[in-house]
Amino acid sequence: MPKLISSLLVCLLVLAQPCLGADPTKFCKCTCGQNSTIIEMTKFALSHLPHASQPIDTDTLMPSVCMNCTRLLCGIAEPDLCDGAAVDEEIVPLCFQRDSLQDQLIVNGFLLLVIGLLAWTAMRDRVKPLVDRVWNQYGLGYTQPN
Ligand SMILES: *[C@@H]1O[C@H](CO)[C@@H](O)[C@H](O)[C@H]1NC(C)=O
Ligand SMILES: *[C@@H]1O[C@H](CO)[C@@H](O)[C@H](O)[C@H]1NC(C)=O
Repeated sequence: MPKLISSLLVCLLVLAQPCLGADPTKFCKCTCGQNSTIIEMTKFALSHLPHASQPIDTDTLMPSVCMNCTRLLCGIAEPDLCDGAAVDEEIVPLCFQRDSLQDQLIVNGFLLLVIGLLAWTAMRDRVKPLVDRVWNQYGLGYTQPN
């Protein structure tokens, strides 16, 4: 069991690493009916789009790149997105960010909680008899029935 716990811990820590101190990257999710695609809103990614119908002028990006997560951008980046979809389907852009500060806090808070609980569980069985012994030795507290 402790082996399982420690490998779980290592696993969580490794997974958490990329979240720590990473720059928040914005993404544009374009949805059309059943189809959707996610575009990374960085200059590099936008100038290396695999299906783009025309080059994207990354110098015209707004300082907050989410402003450029538009139907127009989606249509350029993924021209076939609406192929085969119902005629009334249209592209719905959605900007989101990964590794935001809030996400990091939640992830790290959760990790701390899990680690704390695991550590407490692991320690409890070892520490409790010791504490009981000390208490009993000084005549404090109740005596545990043995
Ligand atoms: C970004 O948005 C601005 C303002 O709407 C626009 O002028 C510019 O062409 C857009 N750039 C790209 C690459 O879509
Ligand atoms: C989804 O996109 C692909 C191309 O990326 C296209 O061939 C297909 O018809 C599309 N399907 C729907 C339901 O939009």
